Amino acid sequence: MFRFELVLSFSLSIIFLRLTAVQSKCPKTCDLALGSYYVWPGTNLTFISTASADSIPDILGYNPNITNADSIEAETRINLPFTCDCIDDEFLGHVFPYTVQSGDTYYEIAQRYYANLTTPAMLEQFNSYPASNVPVNAVLNVTVNCSCGDASVSKVYGLFITYPLRVGDSLGSIAADANLSTDLLQSYNPGVDFSAGSGLVYIPGKVESTCSKGCDLALGSYYVWAGTSVRFVAQVSANSVDELISYNPEIPNEYYVKAGTRIDVPFSCDCIGGEFLAHVFTYAVRSGDTYHTIAETYYSNLTTAAKLEQSNSYPASLIPDNAVVNVTVNCSCGNASVSEAYGLFVTYPLRAEDSLESIAAAASVGADLLQSYNPEKLNSTRTMRLQIVRQAEASSTADRVPRNPLTAMWRFGSELNPWT
Ligand SMILES: *[C@@H]1O[C@H](CO)[C@@H](O)[C@H](O)[C@H]1NC(C)=O
Ligand SMILES: *[C@@H]1O[C@H](CO)[C@@H](O)[C@H](O)[C@H]1NC(C)=O
Ligand SMILES: *[C@@H]1O[C@H](CO)[C@@H](O)[C@H](O)[C@H]1NC(C)=O
Ligand SMILES: *[C@@H]1O[C@H](CO)[C@@H](O)[C@H](O)[C@H]1NC(C)=O
Ligand SMILES: *[C@@H]1O[C@H](CO)[C@@H](O)[C@H](O)[C@H]1NC(C)=O
Ligand SMILES: *[C@@H]1O[C@H](CO)[C@@H](O)[C@H](O)[C@H]1NC(C)=O
Ligand SMILES: *[C@@H]1O[C@H](CO)[C@@H](O)[C@H](O)[C@H]1NC(C)=O
Ligand SMILES: *[C@@H]1O[C@H](CO)[C@@H](O)[C@H](O)[C@H]1NC(C)=O
Ligand SMILES: *[C@@H]1O[C@H](CO)[C@@H](O)[C@H](O)[C@H]1NC(C)=O
Ligand SMILES: *[C@@H]1O[C@H](CO)[C@@H](O)[C@H](O)[C@H]1NC(C)=O
Ligand SMILES: *[C@@H]1O[C@H](CO)[C@@H](O)[C@H](O)[C@H]1NC(C)=O
Repeated sequence: MFRFELVLSFSLSIIFLRLTAVQSKCPKTCDLALGSYYVWPGTNLTFISTASADSIPDILGYNPNITNADSIEAETRINLPFTCDCIDDEFLGHVFPYTVQSGDTYYEIAQRYYANLTTPAMLEQFNSYPASNVPVNAVLNVTVNCSCGDASVSKVYGLFITYPLRVGDSLGSIAADANLSTDLLQSYNPGVDFSAGSGLVYIPGKVESTCSKGCDLALGSYYVWAGTSVRFVAQVSANSVDELISYNPEIPNEYYVKAGTRIDVPFSCDCIGGEFLAHVFTYAVRSGDTYHTIAETYYSNLTTAAKLEQSNSYPASLIPDNAVVNVTVNCSCGNASVSEAYGLFVTYPLRAEDSLESIAAAASVGADLLQSYNPEKLNSTRTMRLQIVRQAEASSTADRVPRNPLTAMWRFGSELNPWT
C-alpha cells in the first residue's frame, strides 16, 4: 500500500516535470506589440524615443492623434512599438536598453522613465547591480512584459498593448476607450482586477501592421547626374559633406565625383504609420521645380513623382515656391526569412543598363541571394522592385556599418526587364 503510493507519486512527478518543461517555453513571439506610455509632466518625445529606442517618426506612426510632436500633452498615453520576444526561454517580453544617468534609481527608472511598464523588482531581477549600487553609464536591461494573444480566446486580435493600470482605471473605462466588450477584455486578462491601480493588463487591438520597427541605417544609391555635386547631394539628403564622404571612401573630397557613378546616401529607415519602411526627406521647392524634376533629377529616382504627389498636399500643378515638400524614399531593414546575416540595405534605383548579374557582381553577392531579397516579379508595373545583395566593402565605414551588410535594391521607373 505504502509502496504503491510512492510509485504513484514518483510517476506523477515525472509527468509534472515533463509538463513544466513544455510549458516553460514561450508561446509564439510576435514582431509587434505596443506599450502604453503614460506621459508624465516634464517628458518629451526625444526622451521617450531614446528610452524606447524607437525613432520619433516610428512613434508618431503609431500615435496619429499627436498633433504637436514638439510638445506632447502630459497625462495622455503614447503607444510605443516593440518586438515581443521570448525572455530567458520563459515568458514574452522586450528588453529595452537604458543608460543610467547620475541620480537614477530603479524606482525612478521603472515608475517614471518607463511609466510603470516595468517594476523596480524586475529591474533588480534582470540586472546584476543591486538597487543600492547602480553605476552611472551602466546599460540596464529594462524588461517589459508583452502578449501576442491567445488563440483559445480569439484569433481576431493580433496586436496587444501592455497597459500599466493607474488609479482611476476600471474594466469598464478601459473597455470603453478600446471599444471592446468588458467580457472580451477580461478574458484576455483572467483574474485581473482592473481597478487595482497598478499592475499590467493586455488590451487587444486589431491594427494590422506590415512593419513594426525601422532601423537606424539604410543607404540610398544616388546616381550622379551631370551637373550635380557632393554638396548638393548632401543638402538634399540632410547629411553633412563630410558624413557623405565617410560613406563613400572612393570619393577623396567633395570636388572629385564623376557623373555616371553612384554615391551611397545614409539615412534612417523608419516604419511609417505602421505600414511601410521609408525615410521622409524634406526638400525646399525652388522656382520651376516639378514633382518630376524633384523625383527624377534631384532625388535621382530614389522616389517617384507619383509618390511625391501622394505624400504632399500640393497638387502637381501648384507647388508654391519655397514650400517644403516630403520626399518619401522606400527602404529595407532585411528579411529574416531570407537571411539574418545581412543588416544593411541599399535602396537602389535601377537603370536600363543594370541587370541582376551586373548588380550582384558589383555588390559581390550571389545572384540567387540578391533575387531572394527581391522576390517580386519585375516587369509589369511602373514601380518595380528588384532585390539585390552586396557585401560591405568600405573599411573606413566599418565603425558604422554592421558586418555582412546586405543591400536591398529597389527598382523604380523603368518598364524594362533587366533580366532580358
Ligand atoms: C526632454 O525630457 C528630458 C527628461 O525629462 C529632459 O532632460 C530634456 O531636457 C528634455 N528636452 C527638451 C528639449 O525639453
Ligand atoms: C490618443 O488616443 C489614445 C487612445 O484613445 C489616448 O489614450 C491618448 O491619450 C491620446 N493622446 C493624445 C495626445 O491625445
Ligand atoms: C507609476 O506608479 C506609481 C505608483 O503607483 C505612481 O505614483 C506613478 O505616478 C506612476 N507613474 C506613471 C508615469 O504613471
Ligand atoms: C542584461 O541581460 C543580459 C542577458 O541576460 C546579461 O548578459 C547582462 O549581464 C544583463 N545586464 C546587466 C546590467 O545585468
Ligand atoms: C512579467 O512576467 C513575469 C513572468 O510571467 C512575471 O514574473 C512578472 O511579475 C511580470 N511583471 C509584471 C510587471 O507584471
Ligand atoms: C466599435 O466597435 C463596433 C463593433 O465592434 C464598430 O461598429 C464601431 O465602429 C467601433 N467604434 C469605434 C469608434 O471604433
Ligand atoms: C530617372 O529616371 C528617368 C526615367 O527613367 C530617367 O530619364 C532619368 O535619367 C533618371 N534620373 C537619373 C538621375 O538617373
Ligand atoms: C508632410 O508630411 C507631414 C506628415 O505626414 C504632413 O503633416 C505635412 O502636411 C506634409 N507636407 C505637405 C507639404 O503636404
Ligand atoms: C514604396 O513602398 C510602398 C509600400 O510598400 C509601395 O506601395 C510603393 O510603390 C513603393 N514606392 C516605390 C517608389 O517603389
Ligand atoms: C521575406 O521573404 C519571404 C521569402 O522570400 C517572402 O515570402 C516575404 O514576403 C518577404 N517579406 C518581406 C517583408 O519582403
Ligand atoms: C516580363 O515581360 C516579358 C515580355 O513582356 C514576359 O515574356 C515575361 O514573362 C515577363 N517576366 C515576368 C517575370 O513577369
